[in-house]
Amino acid sequence: MPTTYSPLRYPGGKSQLTPFIVELLRENNLLDGTYVEPFAGGAGIAWHLLLKGFVQEVYINDLNPSIYAFWKAVLEENDKLCGLIEDTPITIDEWNKQKLVQHSSNTASLELGFSTLFLNRTNRSGIIKAGVIGGKSQDGNYKLDCRFQKQAIIKKIQDIHLFKDEIKLFNLDANDFIRDILPSVEQKSLINIDPPYYIKGKGLYQNFFEHKDHQSLLNSIETIHHPWIVTYDNTPEINSLYAKHNPKTFELNYSAQKKCKGSEVIIYGPGIQACQFEPGMTFSQVKNLKKTLSDNMIMKKTKQERYEYDEVV
Ligand SMILES: C[S@@+](CC[C@H](N)C(=O)[O-])C[C@H]1O[C@@H](n2cnc3c(N)ncnc32)[C@H](O)[C@@H]1O
Repeated sequence: MPTTYSPLRYPGGKSQLTPFIVELLRENNLLDGTYVEPFAGGAGIAWHLLLKGFVQEVYINDLNPSIYAFWKAVLEENDKLCGLIEDTPITIDEWNKQKLVQHSSNTASLELGFSTLFLNRTNRSGIIKAGVIGGKSQDGNYKLDCRFQKQAIIKKIQDIHLFKDEIKLFNLDANDFIRDILPSVEQKSLINIDPPYYIKGKGLYQNFFEHKDHQSLLNSIETIHHPWIVTYDNTPEINSLYAKHNPKTFELNYSAQKKCKGSEVIIYGPGIQACQFEPGMTFSQVKNLKKTLSDNMIMKKTKQERYEYDEVV
């Protein structure tokens, strides 16, 4: 199984939360429903849930034109996109050309979508605005093509494309998406809201939020009638903004710049039951914990039965 089903490397990407989200869906009877990400980015969780049959449909939205153009190309111009991946040399000359595309194009063209993928796979940490892996003189230990395994990327794109009829893609501000699109989404849905981080967001993404944007997002979130969760970086401002929803902290491994653990918070909306598993757990940790819990249940039951038997005889 690949570590992520997303062809995009995503700084702060939340694919690691997939095992937790699967359990959350299970515990809230939301399996086979719809999964929605108003801030989709690399959408790693969405692709896993859809490709593995945990949900029937996904809605992904991202305001960033580069990200949107890439997903649009995956869904609508898959063959041409894969042809470009196959035929384009991964060189510094090409990197310079692709950089210019980002500066000159703002429409959701195939050209912009491909440029997003190219820079995402050749830049440090996958950040479109960052420098190239190995530096412009390519004298580093790693060269710019070290994360550009063409066939693996093409396979991921084609796997997602197979589900294109089950994928709804939008390029809206999240507040507009929540107001205009969510009301027509079936009730059996999980809305997973992963906004730009309160503190770390500014360096990572091309769109970033100010305090007032986090506040107006909360106002929009409070209008949602579906089950929802929000994840954020663990900051005093976010804890106080969401205080009445009782934020819970958890740890996540993230590698946007260096490999370290980040402290995050998860906030559960009123229509959802908190999951008994920790958000950062892997599939095998979830499996082992489930086994322990069920062994304990059996032991408890056996003890109880023995007790009842002793009572009778
Ligand atoms: C924290 S990232 C989401 C990462 C994603 N959950 C993943 O696992 O890859 C936030 C995303 O929100 C997008 N974004 C920023 N401002 C937005 C807005 N106002 N409305 C919608 N999307 C926005 C950014 O382009 C970025 O892709």
